[in-house]
Amino acid sequence: MLNVVILAAGQGKRMRSDLPKVLHPIAGKPMLAHVLDTARALVPAQVCVVYGHGGEQVRTALLAPELAWALQEPQLGTGHAVLQALPHLDAVPPAPTLVLYGDVPLIRATTLRRLIEVAGDDKLALLTAHLDNPHGYGRIVRIDGQVTRIVEEKDADDAERAIREINTGILVAPGAALARWLPQLGNRNAQGEYYLTDIVAMAVAEGMDVVTAHPDAHWETEGVNSKTQLAMLERIHQRNIAETLMEQGVTLADPARIDVRGELLCGRDVFIDVNCVFEGRVVLGDGVRINPNCVIQDAVVGPQSIIGPFARLRPGATLAEDVHIGNFVEVKNSTIAAHSKANHLAYIGDATVGSRVNVGAGTITCNYDGANKFRTVIEDDVFIGSDTQLVAPVTVGKGATLGAGTTLTRDAPPDQLTVSRPKQISIAGWKRPVKQKKG
Ligand code: UD1
Ligand code: MG
Repeated sequence: MLNVVILAAGQGKRMRSDLPKVLHPIAGKPMLAHVLDTARALVPAQVCVVYGHGGEQVRTALLAPELAWALQEPQLGTGHAVLQALPHLDAVPPAPTLVLYGDVPLIRATTLRRLIEVAGDDKLALLTAHLDNPHGYGRIVRIDGQVTRIVEEKDADDAERAIREINTGILVAPGAALARWLPQLGNRNAQGEYYLTDIVAMAVAEGMDVVTAHPDAHWETEGVNSKTQLAMLERIHQRNIAETLMEQGVTLADPARIDVRGELLCGRDVFIDVNCVFEGRVVLGDGVRINPNCVIQDAVVGPQSIIGPFARLRPGATLAEDVHIGNFVEVKNSTIAAHSKANHLAYIGDATVGSRVNVGAGTITCNYDGANKFRTVIEDDVFIGSDTQLVAPVTVGKGATLGAGTTLTRDAPPDQLTVSRPKQISIAGWKRPVKQKKG
């Protein structure tokens, strides 16, 4: 059994934003939601978020009914913060409690499992790291290799400041011991705060074992206090996603130039060129090629299809195999069957497009009359000439051809040519106007 407390009460002044710090997104998802997902992967008995600044906004943004929330107001330090969570935790039998931070978004479950493992039921376990530049962090003080206490940078003497083993802040403590220690914390220190870190000396005084574990990667325990740090962790997270995709066999033209803000599922031999953004849940079939500068959101792309450059697939775009979507083509809430092509400058919205359809350059489905949206149906083997408007609701029958420049307001019968433009005329003897002389 395990309880998890996530500290998220800090204001985040240095973000210079009206948005509470823990709601700032990494890969399109609030930092706190990343931490929650990782916490849930540990299958805890209870998760309690300690909130303060922007409280209601944080609660509604996360919308998780199973979470417990503890308000910390005012914020008197990390020890005081965890104390607020205690009444919300599963207490019978007292389970070890893991402390996480809403602004440390990239911590991984594998690292946490190691920490939980060394803690067992009866030890205090600290996640520590060795840094070349430990400035600003709490230092791990050891005597004969045994942890004796943590000293904060601002309370440390020169010898302590020279210690390079730092406290990441993440720890696991036995539940009953935590309930005993936290009310005893004092705030006589340089910052006048109730330090969670003071429980280490309390554990040592009781003869409890204090053990340590370390993260696999340094970025796992890095926190966000500024937009610069947010951007740094975003890049690290995107790099990790790119690595995972490449391990799965996806070819990326440049792993530094892809952004995945959601879930990207790829078949075999998928190629993704530079500067593509994927949002929501995107599925790319075997052999799909995504050319540069595409934005793809909540869409399914069938095998062997070619998208882009400069294409936009919006939610509900479902493409079958060997579909070509070219430059400046937008597809929304539409299905496109196999071997169909829309290669240039088109909008396909709320449409059902059959197989082997050719959508000419500049084709627009006029799906919206200003109040309601209507569907366009384009049956198999249709050829749509350039610069055509399909005013929905409208159906283009199987095998039909629409002449260039057609504005289709009624259904087009199958297999026929439908054109809606005035007959072309030429005026013999017509002269261009010439500029008149003044005066
Ligand atoms: C803390 C640790 C330090 C560690 C460092 C790692 C303490 C006393 N010190 O220092 O040993 O090296 O983290 O980054 O714990 N928070 C609340 N309520 C509060 C105070 C803080 O929710 O009253 C939250 C903050 O939002 C933040 C986290 O706790 O997410 C850490 O607080 P912060 O003040 O940044 O801790 P540090 O001083 O950096
Ligand atoms: Mg502080």
